[in-house]
Amino acid sequence: MAVLLPGGAGYIGSHTAVELLNSGKEIVIIDNFSNSKPEVLDAIKKITGKNFKFYEMDYRDKEKLEKVFEENEIEAVINFAGYKAVGESVQKPLEYYDNNIQGALSLLETMKKFNVKKFIFSSSATVYGDPEIIPITEECKTGGTTNPYGTTKLFIEQILKDIYISDSSWDICILRYFNPVGAHESGLIGEEPQGIPNNLMPYIVRVAAGTLKELSVFGNDYPTPDGTGVRDYIHVVDLAKGHVLALNKLEKEEKGLYIYNLGTGTGYSVLDMVKAFEKATNKKVAYKIAERRAGDIATCYADPKKAEEELGWKANKTLEDMCRDSWNYINKK
Ligand code: WQD
Repeated sequence: MAVLLPGGAGYIGSHTAVELLNSGKEIVIIDNFSNSKPEVLDAIKKITGKNFKFYEMDYRDKEKLEKVFEENEIEAVINFAGYKAVGESVQKPLEYYDNNIQGALSLLETMKKFNVKKFIFSSSATVYGDPEIIPITEECKTGGTTNPYGTTKLFIEQILKDIYISDSSWDICILRYFNPVGAHESGLIGEEPQGIPNNLMPYIVRVAAGTLKELSVFGNDYPTPDGTGVRDYIHVVDLAKGHVLALNKLEKEEKGLYIYNLGTGTGYSVLDMVKAFEKATNKKVAYKIAERRAGDIATCYADPKKAEEELGWKANKTLEDMCRDSWNYINKK
C-alpha cells in the first residue's frame, strides 16, 4: 500500500515525502515540475535512504492518473499539487482555477473510480479571509478570499464537504497551513521560488545573501505592537509531520471529514522576523518601510489546539530554527 503525493517534488510535498518515508510509509510521487526540479527526488532519496516510484505527469491527465492507480496499490492521496502564488493568481485566474480545481477533481474522480477514499488536502489560512477572531479556530467563518489562489482553496474545501455529504465512506482531512518557512536541516531540500519572491522569508534570505538590495516592509501603521503585519510562521518540517499524523488518524479512526489549523499559535511581526533572522545567522538584513501591500491583513495566527488534541501534533521548532534552516538551504545550493 502506498500514499500518492501529487506535487511531491514541491516545497511542502518534498518535506512530507521525507517524513512519510521516515515513518515507514511507501510513497508514489507525481509531479510535472512546473514549480520544482527533478533533483529534489534524489535529495529525498539521499535524506531518507529510501526509494519510491515517480511519474512525471500533470495531475489533470486522467488517463495517466488511472494508470498510476492501476500500477500501484494506492491507499490514500495527499494533494500538494497546485499553483500557489497570490499575486500571479490575480493576473492569471483561469490558469489557477483550471490547474487547482481541475486537478483536484481529476484526483477525486480517479480515487472514486478505484475506491480509494482517504484524501488529505493542503489548504491555507487564507480561507479565513480577514479573520473574525484571533487566534483563529477552525470554527471561524471562512470566505471573503481576496485573490483567485485563496478562492481555489475555498472552493476545493467546499467540493470536499459536498463529496463527504454525498458519501460518508470518504475519509477526508483538510489542513489549513499558516505561513510555512524554513527547510530540512540537511539543507538538501527547501523553498525555491521562481523569480523575485513575494513571501517574506525567501525575500529576507535573498537580501542577507546580497542577491536583493533591501526588504520593503509593507506598512508600519497596522494595529499591531510595532505596526508591521503579524503572522504565524511555521517550520516546514513541523508542518510535514502534521500530515503523517493526519494520515494516521484517517487510517485508525472513524471515517469523517476533519479540518485542522497547522500553525504554532504565536504571531511574529515583520520586524520580529528581521531581528530573529539577523540573530540566528549573523547577517544584516537591510530594510525600508514601504506602503501597505494591497490585500494584506494586520494579524493572522492560529489556535492550534484542535490539532494537538485530535492529532497529537504540535509545532516544536523555534523561530531560530526556521531562520537558520532557511539560510542553510540557500548556502548549501
Ligand atoms: C508575510 C508578512 C507582509 C513580503 C501568503 C499567502 C498565504 C500563504 C503564504 C501560500 C505580511 C510582509 C512580505 C515583503 C513584507 N500562501 N511582507 N515585505 O501574505 O501572510 O501569506 O503566503 O502558498 O496564502 O496569502 O505571507 O510571506 O507574503 O507576508 O513586509 O517583501 O510579511 O506584508 O505582513 P502572507 P507573506
